[in-house]
Amino acid sequence: MDEIILNIEKNYTKEPTAADCIILAIESSCDETAAAVSVNKKLVSNIITTQSVHEQYGGVVPELASRAHMQNIVVVVDKALQQANIKLTEVSAIAYTQSPGLLGALLVGATYAKSLALAHNKPLIAVHHMQAHVLANLIEMDNKKVPNFPFLCLTVSGGHTQIVLCQSPLLMQVIGETIDDAAGEAFDKSAKILGLPYPGGPLIDKYAQLGNPNTYKFTEPKIPNLNFSFSGLKTQILYFVQNGNDENENFITDNLNNICASIQYRIVTILLNKLKIAIEQTGVKDICLAGGVAANSGLRKAFEQLGNRMECSTFVPSFEYCTDNAAMIAITGYYKYKAQQYSNLATIPTARGIW
Ligand code: KG4
Ligand code: ZN
Repeated sequence: MDEIILNIEKNYTKEPTAADCIILAIESSCDETAAAVSVNKKLVSNIITTQSVHEQYGGVVPELASRAHMQNIVVVVDKALQQANIKLTEVSAIAYTQSPGLLGALLVGATYAKSLALAHNKPLIAVHHMQAHVLANLIEMDNKKVPNFPFLCLTVSGGHTQIVLCQSPLLMQVIGETIDDAAGEAFDKSAKILGLPYPGGPLIDKYAQLGNPNTYKFTEPKIPNLNFSFSGLKTQILYFVQNGNDENENFITDNLNNICASIQYRIVTILLNKLKIAIEQTGVKDICLAGGVAANSGLRKAFEQLGNRMECSTFVPSFEYCTDNAAMIAITGYYKYKAQQYSNLATIPTARGIW
């Protein structure tokens, strides 16, 4: 059994009223089995297990992810309800990640959500994982401002890189995206070239903080419109490291901090140069980050600086709502519940979902 992380300490003490919208949310699209409960736009529990089985393989093994979800899901959902002090009978609807993701992993969450909905006669809400990453910015927390509509969101995860124009919680348009690798993949693949374990993104971040980003120059690809490309950068890094190793067998260890800082600098500038164009083109002044790569300290800092320069208000979800979680599924479930956008028992998960 994987270690379970409890992110909210206190139980929900207020008795829910009939007017409250209580969402039980389930996320199982990749290697996190997660469940959360929200009452209206407030989160009252948030449980995540990160599957440890993949570490030895240097990446997520889909088959093993599905099996680990099967092992974890009942306990995770139970814990989310317990921590929220909410009974299944009190829940207004059950929301689950329907797409995109690893198909076998999605099937586990979808099937469990459907079983609970069927057994307790609750409405089901199918959630798009990428829409949920964006809406993580709207999770209400004490002393935290939320963006006004319309806002722009740069969503950067292990599988996606998108600039999204959000007109309202359920009206979003992808105005730019990667044509090959995602930003998270660029971090993870660069880390692999450097011999760092998976997922390498957080490690590049850690070493980059000790290095000089101007030591090595990696070129920025010229991609039209608001789209991104990271595959050329990966090839540049591969040849750069091979050449370095030819000259000095300790090239990586001798220069790790500076290499990481230079790689991170280029990934961040590729991302933010496109976001800057999107701000100029749309005139939108509230800008958000989302997705696992939004945890990157270099990106967060440069994003704040861009916001200051462009006179924009900046928003970044708390760390635990950037990487995969069910809290973002709950907040999306809330808006879909209010709009009565229910799904039925015949809805099936899809690996590549239509936005
Ligand atoms: O959103 P997420 O948890 O899962 C997906 O939906 O993909 O994102 C995971 C990605 C991985 O590529 C991981 O390396 C990256 O987010 N990541 C980071 C950092 N923390 C997580 N990348 C760079 N710096 C970080 N601090
Ligand atoms: Zn994700």
